Amino acid sequence: MTQFDTDPLEALRLRPGARRPRRLRRTPALRDLVRETTLSPDDLVQPFFVIPGSGVRKPIASMPGIDQLSVDLVVDEARALGPLGIKAAILFGIPETKDAFGLESHAEDGVVQQAIRALKETSPDLVLVTDVCLCEYTDHGHCGLLEDSGYLLNDETLEVLARIAISHAQAGADVVAPSGMIDGMVGAIRAALDNEGLEHVAILSYAVKYASALYGPFREAAEGAPAFGDRRTHQLDPGNAREALREAALDVEEGADALLVKPALGYLDVVRRVHERFPELPLAAYNVSGEYAMVKAAAMSGWLDERPAVLELLSAMRRAGADFIVTYHATDAARWLQESV
Ligand code: PBG
Ligand code: ZN
Repeated sequence: MTQFDTDPLEALRLRPGARRPRRLRRTPALRDLVRETTLSPDDLVQPFFVIPGSGVRKPIASMPGIDQLSVDLVVDEARALGPLGIKAAILFGIPETKDAFGLESHAEDGVVQQAIRALKETSPDLVLVTDVCLCEYTDHGHCGLLEDSGYLLNDETLEVLARIAISHAQAGADVVAPSGMIDGMVGAIRAALDNEGLEHVAILSYAVKYASALYGPFREAAEGAPAFGDRRTHQLDPGNAREALREAALDVEEGADALLVKPALGYLDVVRRVHERFPELPLAAYNVSGEYAMVKAAAMSGWLDERPAVLELLSAMRRAGADFIVTYHATDAARWLQESV
């Protein structure tokens, strides 16, 4: 029997042998052609931990490959981002001195403010995002001002967050990213920026930030572990996803330009839900320090092949709905992506 003998209607009907999705996986080029999710260096945001001084580099033990850097070294490392295709960096500051009010957070010559000014000179095209929170600046390590009982004061903290955002914006930040989960933070910062003629500065809200055990290495990096208690009176309970949508809705209403979900890996369902509920806003996922540490530890033990593992995990965050990703793997991943084209 030749193919011409077959009944054309029979041929049109789907036979079991016709159902072969593997046809599109046969060669690397075919796989590239039909891939639904792409990962590119310009989806990645590189974090920097800025410390006082000059020529100072302090490795962070629980984050191999990531160092605290003085402003001059941040400038050096930032120069390498452009050629790698990375378009944005997020800055965290570790001040000289800490106090109950986190005063250095909004000091004109604070480490982050200095870094922004220097980077705007040396890497003018790099998008500068700044973390707006108090935990790196307070001696008690909490994300805001405290009442005597230790409870985090909400509206009093908003005033300080507004001051931090203004000082970052005046130094030249493109995007301010309030990370403390304080009610009303986006609205307060938006009003303060507009009032200062800083309407052009965008707000990336850490709208959905869980009270996670995976921030441990960051707290070493930023020297911002709470001296007592925890952050569960303001960060989200890991069991809650509907509440995440409520948080996101409030931030959208208050004027957030983009939203962020954090951590990423255990919360990809939340990334997906926020993406679906607010498709008009750019969405970021924060691949946090503990997630980085887990992959690094396994890779260093020879238990995981780092390069494919990292690219797979970052792609999964994109697939879930993240437009961009804050990740300590940024420069490695960008290099691997460049090598693979
Ligand atoms: C500050 C802040 C934290 C992180 C980002 N901004 C720490 C925290 O909330 O305890 C965590 C980032 C990471 O773990 O990589 N509020
Ligand atoms: Zn904080």
